[in-house]
Amino acid sequence: MLFVIVCCVAVVLYWYGTRGQDYWAKKGVPYEKPVPFFGNGLKQFTQKMSPAQVAVEIYRKYPNERYVGSFFGSEKSLTIRDPELIKSIMVSDFMYFHKRGLNTHDDVIEPLSKNLFVADGDIWRLLRQRITPAFSSGKLKAMFPLIVERAVKVQDLADKAAKTGATVDVRDLMARYTTDFIGACGFGIDMESLEDENSVFRKLGRRIFIFTARDIFILMLKRTFPDTFKHLNLISPEIENPTLHLVQTVLKQRNYKPSGRNDFIDLLLDLKEKGKLVGESIEHFKADGTPKEAQLEMDDMLMAAQVFVFFAAGFETSSSSTSYMLHQLAFHPEEQKKVQEEIDEVLSRYDNKLCYDAIREMEYLEMAFLESMRLFPSLGFLIRKCAKRYTLPGTDVTIDKGVSIIIPVQAIHTDEKYFEDPDKFIPERFSPERIKNIKKCTYLPFGDGPRACIGERLGLMQSLAGLAALLHKYSVEPAPTTLRHPVSDPAVGLTQSIKGGLPLCIKARA
Ligand code: HEM
Repeated sequence: MLFVIVCCVAVVLYWYGTRGQDYWAKKGVPYEKPVPFFGNGLKQFTQKMSPAQVAVEIYRKYPNERYVGSFFGSEKSLTIRDPELIKSIMVSDFMYFHKRGLNTHDDVIEPLSKNLFVADGDIWRLLRQRITPAFSSGKLKAMFPLIVERAVKVQDLADKAAKTGATVDVRDLMARYTTDFIGACGFGIDMESLEDENSVFRKLGRRIFIFTARDIFILMLKRTFPDTFKHLNLISPEIENPTLHLVQTVLKQRNYKPSGRNDFIDLLLDLKEKGKLVGESIEHFKADGTPKEAQLEMDDMLMAAQVFVFFAAGFETSSSSTSYMLHQLAFHPEEQKKVQEEIDEVLSRYDNKLCYDAIREMEYLEMAFLESMRLFPSLGFLIRKCAKRYTLPGTDVTIDKGVSIIIPVQAIHTDEKYFEDPDKFIPERFSPERIKNIKKCTYLPFGDGPRACIGERLGLMQSLAGLAALLHKYSVEPAPTTLRHPVSDPAVGLTQSIKGGLPLCIKARA
């Protein structure tokens, strides 16, 4: 009898753990063979490989396919290898893929997740429409003096390192610069508070980027039983409370009116003054097929969520991209010299002062930065979620609502089909003459289409300003502990990160 019960339980468990795993086979799509319950997600669940590394592995294993199916737990994913198909999904057929799909529930969304990166559907669209003007070049130019102040401070940090001759983790150095920048431009907080290691802001910054056992546990519950745990918040109160408190304090200090500082809080206050967010729905339609009206109130919590995303989306990306560029320059002294000579020449025409227009003239610096983001894009993969049934162009494969789309950016950036000598650092690939030869959707450090990075210009200009300030006075060289090919950390989520930091020597220029 016991044997029969055990067999029945095993059969039920097996059925439960493998349900839906014939999805890709039935559609005739090449796919990775899944295991019960975990699908193909075991390497990620056990943190042996990051999602970006898994995407690279799948991409390289199927060199002749346009797309490859897989399973993350019970979730169905399709990795797209073909740039034409990527273009359809991200740009032309965006209305089928407007979701990023990070929320585990469609209707119950925790307050800080109503930010531009995580929000989907009408909330995303209304926010994006309203916030886009805040990232115009005019606003960026107005914000630039705040950036320059922080960039110059990088020189002080480098100066200490150069004097002692000690090896410096440039990942940490650029993270400190980026934190300063986010404090000033995102939260409207002055530097004094940043210098205090124990300030609420520094603590908050540290906590946002730690994924604790509590967070992993809650994420698993929410992914496995989305309905049951829809009211459980993934973002911990340790993050939510101080973020809201900080934003409310700054709002109160400004009397809920733009202060003229031209930072992000001012921009949000400007937007709030325009009243309720109203626009056409992308989710709900009338009987005649025309979109219904969607509305959203810009309250304190919604503003806090946008300030939060300034931190979450701007911090890791900028600090990892700038530090990786320094690593490349340390191993390419010729290119470093070229970058420095250009910085010297441009600044000599601007009274040796960094400013928006000067940075825009530093063409070779930008080329080197773009090349270093090709070799190590901060987001090594991009995601979309299918919002309604979609037939992949040129095929008879129709995917259903809810299927995740993976765009394997790191793999495409390092495919010799699109970039000759893909592992070599060659800034000239991005010269004005050659950049136009890069095939559409094979270079995606900021994504593409209506959900591309909204902070692209800001992120680029802020990164170049920090690099220019540093390289104007200092050079970087490999330290005895520097690895020629740094190892990407397998225990990360959305963004890629280097394991153990990026140690380099910083030397004052003669
Ligand atoms: C070098 C710096 C940066 C890099 C490499 C970068 C990269 C990216 C990438 C790859 C995406 C996803 C795009 C997609 O899915 O197609 C993204 C989205 C986003 N980024 Fe950035 N980013 C940077 C800086 C910033 C900064 C400074 C901000 C400041 C607010 C920012 C805010 C955002 C937001 C809000 C989104 C979501 C946009 C949406 O879904 O509508 N990023 N970024």
